[in-house]
Amino acid sequence: MKIGTYYYPEQWPRAQWARDFDHMSMMGMQIVHMGEFAWASVEPEEGRFEFDWLAECVELAAARHMSVILCTPTAVPPMWLMRKHPELSIMDDAGRRVRQGKRRHGAPTCPALIEAGRRIAVALAGRFNQHSAVIGWQIDNELSTDYFDQSDYTHAAFQHWLDRRYGTIEKLNAAWGCQFWNTYFTSFDQIQMPPDRSHRYGNPHHVLDACRFWSWAFAEFTRVQAEALRAGAGARFVTTNFMPFHPDANPADFTDVIDLWSWDAYPVTGFSGSPGHEYFRLADPSVLGLTHDHMAAFNRRWALMELQPGQVNWSGYPVLPYPGAVRLWVWTAFAHGAEFVTTYRFRRPLWGIELFHDGLVGTDGTTPSPGGRQFAQVISEMKRLDLSRVPAFVDEVPDPRHTVGLVVDFDQLWMYQIMPQAKRWDQPQWLRTWHGAIQRMGYQVRVLVPGMPWPKDLAMVVAPGVQMVDDVLVKQFTDYTDAGGHLLLTCRTGLMNRFGHLHEGPTAAPILKLIGGSIEAYDCLPPDTTGKVELDGKTYPWAVWGDLLYNDSESVVLARYADQFYSGTASVIQNRSGPGTVTYCGVYGEQAFVDALMEKLLTPPASAQVTAAKRAKAKTPGSIVSTSVALPARVSVLKRGPYRVLLNYQDASVEAPAPPGATFVVGQRLVEPAGVAVWTE
Ligand code: GAL
Repeated sequence: MKIGTYYYPEQWPRAQWARDFDHMSMMGMQIVHMGEFAWASVEPEEGRFEFDWLAECVELAAARHMSVILCTPTAVPPMWLMRKHPELSIMDDAGRRVRQGKRRHGAPTCPALIEAGRRIAVALAGRFNQHSAVIGWQIDNELSTDYFDQSDYTHAAFQHWLDRRYGTIEKLNAAWGCQFWNTYFTSFDQIQMPPDRSHRYGNPHHVLDACRFWSWAFAEFTRVQAEALRAGAGARFVTTNFMPFHPDANPADFTDVIDLWSWDAYPVTGFSGSPGHEYFRLADPSVLGLTHDHMAAFNRRWALMELQPGQVNWSGYPVLPYPGAVRLWVWTAFAHGAEFVTTYRFRRPLWGIELFHDGLVGTDGTTPSPGGRQFAQVISEMKRLDLSRVPAFVDEVPDPRHTVGLVVDFDQLWMYQIMPQAKRWDQPQWLRTWHGAIQRMGYQVRVLVPGMPWPKDLAMVVAPGVQMVDDVLVKQFTDYTDAGGHLLLTCRTGLMNRFGHLHEGPTAAPILKLIGGSIEAYDCLPPDTTGKVELDGKTYPWAVWGDLLYNDSESVVLARYADQFYSGTASVIQNRSGPGTVTYCGVYGEQAFVDALMEKLLTPPASAQVTAAKRAKAKTPGSIVSTSVALPARVSVLKRGPYRVLLNYQDASVEAPAPPGATFVVGQRLVEPAGVAVWTE
């Protein structure tokens, strides 16, 4: 795995460039990322390209044996383009266009922006695709807008997309349930984009299609540039950097557009505290791990494009990261199979909105920041690894018995955002809760995307809150259990079809046969109230959502509610389905509950068992396996190539579960807070 940094030469005096490259090189940087926001510097006037300064910097990098990632600058259209095409700025619901002086304000549907983006991409590729130091291209930056554009060209593009999707207006009226409140359309050109993702007591099915369309529009915008960059690109990758679970761009829509999935990680923002602990300085390991695994889901090539090097300027709670946290995050990316990690940014800016944003060096441009020193440390530590034994990409699934599939589906995220029903239902958090519970058991997570092929023989498949299902997905579930798999579904699975309609029949009709039970009702508790759920004699709080379940004669009850008027009613049931099992977790529980359920269902591999107190064997009949000993929360042990990597996101030390003869390449058996240990067995 290579490590590198963002550098914006156009923001610094030319006289300092060589010195800055020397400092990057002294820190051991192997990649420099340039040109991301430089449109006005590379095309100061329409059609007049000035690439010599950038070429000079590519040479400065190459002379220091650094590889280069170049970018298309379309996130900041230059002033001449804005003047010529004021329509490229997105328009809000009141008809106002975004003013100049921002970024990410262009509409992906604007013909003038698409064409100008294509031209600059063609010119960049023509000049730089020959240079051996250039290893790949990043298109744009964090594809997104603040709301859905209301320009006429966007409405027209939406109408065409709907026409292609439905073919006739009658089909659209049926798909959108237009009989409700008599909101029929008689032709496609009557339809407009909604202003944003709130249905405002309008039509949720309309908003759902708008979400799908907007992500498709970003993918098409990217495709135009990707095709231009590929001319002469050879083996160079084309990517774009996603934000985690940002609803504007569904990474699954980019499968035939890019070759490598990358994302931007800012794990410590201070948005939430952790009473009694300093976890808010360390990050939630599942925030990182889940998105890493999501990025790896498409073609196993992924990278961390931006990684927080220290304090950020934009959160309002700029907490100081825990000593060693930056190093821990880089090792986390390695353990999840990243191809490279680059950090935003090398030099701390002295002006502009991000002047409080840390870099690898401080305001003098030369002195390494604490984050800069940690980057240099990881780079030198990684040299102790034999990288020829580490697969360049994420392993296919080297050990399916110790890999759990986790279903991630953007359609669900959109629908939950449009119609949460329960205010506290947080789908990304629900996914992270399961991710954390799986990793704590010492299993790797493989993110599964509905419709794409799933690897065989996975130890378990977990599908949290997959509210909209179609026949294809139900078949994937059934095929998996028919082959002896252990499937885990949760509350709010199978309530709707892909249009977002309820089924005419019992609640969750398509999955009832699988789960071996029925859903009588559900409950959601008020803000200051929690209920109790009991599992193996221990009670846990819950509040967000709880299904009241009946098991049928084939299935068994694993957990029950322990208070409220329905105390004693089943909340988790388990069914035998062919040679496999299906566990239905009807309650949106907290981490401790989900951890306890996972402990009941999985046995940790020897490599992840800690020597702490053994737990009693699970007694419930029908549970898949009994429990032994899991890792402490916030600790994971992952495998990449021959290396086991322990990542300690605790503010306390932990002992690595390495066998007696293990050779520690990095760290030692006792792993300090925010520490890392790497060993071979
Ligand atoms: C990212 C963005 C970068 C920079 C950074 C600051 O979201 O892509 O350009 O603004 O935030 O943390």
